[in-house]
Amino acid sequence: MPKEVKYVDEPENKEKYTKGFDTFYSVVAKPYELFIKISPFWKRWLKTTIPHIQGPRVLEVSFGTGYLLTQYADQFDTYGIDYNEKFVSMLQKKLTKKGLSVDIRQGNVEALPYKDGFFDSIVNTMAFSAYPDAVKALSEMHRVLKPGGKLMIVDIDYPLKRKGFGMALTKAWILVGDLVRDMTPLFNQFNFEYTDEEIGGFGSVHLYVANKL
Ligand SMILES: C[S@@+](CC[C@H](N)C(=O)[O-])C[C@H]1O[C@@H](n2cnc3c(N)ncnc32)[C@H](O)[C@@H]1O
Repeated sequence: MPKEVKYVDEPENKEKYTKGFDTFYSVVAKPYELFIKISPFWKRWLKTTIPHIQGPRVLEVSFGTGYLLTQYADQFDTYGIDYNEKFVSMLQKKLTKKGLSVDIRQGNVEALPYKDGFFDSIVNTMAFSAYPDAVKALSEMHRVLKPGGKLMIVDIDYPLKRKGFGMALTKAWILVGDLVRDMTPLFNQFNFEYTDEEIGGFGSVHLYVANKL
């Protein structure tokens, strides 16, 4: 039996949590971009989502610097949304430079500005544990996904076997403020059928591929 682990409670003041991290992202936007550029493992983790993407219409929620989005945008009818204005303008510039036409918006995962069942796939990397209200975030992604659509999440969780160096890494993410969650009850609540695969970080980085039934 894997040992019990402690997940994180959501903050009481959710707006304050989101705004606090938003200020942080605005300050670190450029160094964060450089980090992704020089970090082979981060790029590899994000790119594990690509083979699972099904089109034609794809949404990336919380694209950050847009590294991942620019890897697949030319193959699909692509949309992107992120809370941070600096990331939005950085990506917009990159897309213009590459001649890619993508619907990019600033917005909150808790109130996605799209119609029900609009997307065939949604991609979400290293961001779910930055949302202070997991149910609201997942409910919105579920709403805008078509029945039969796929949601790919890459994020932090404890190693499946609950042992090894990945345990310490997950705890370190929690210490820096990440809201690491048990995804099973969340996916079950929305009746997603899903797989959970360790893709790096000694078992602390997971790829979830969830199908909307
Ligand atoms: C750690 S970064 C991950 C960025 C990118 N997906 C990656 O893998 O490198 C977290 C991202 O979540 C975004 N974010 C945080 N809260 C959000 C919210 N409520 N709605 C939409 N995006 C949000 C941030 O602006 C930031 O771009």
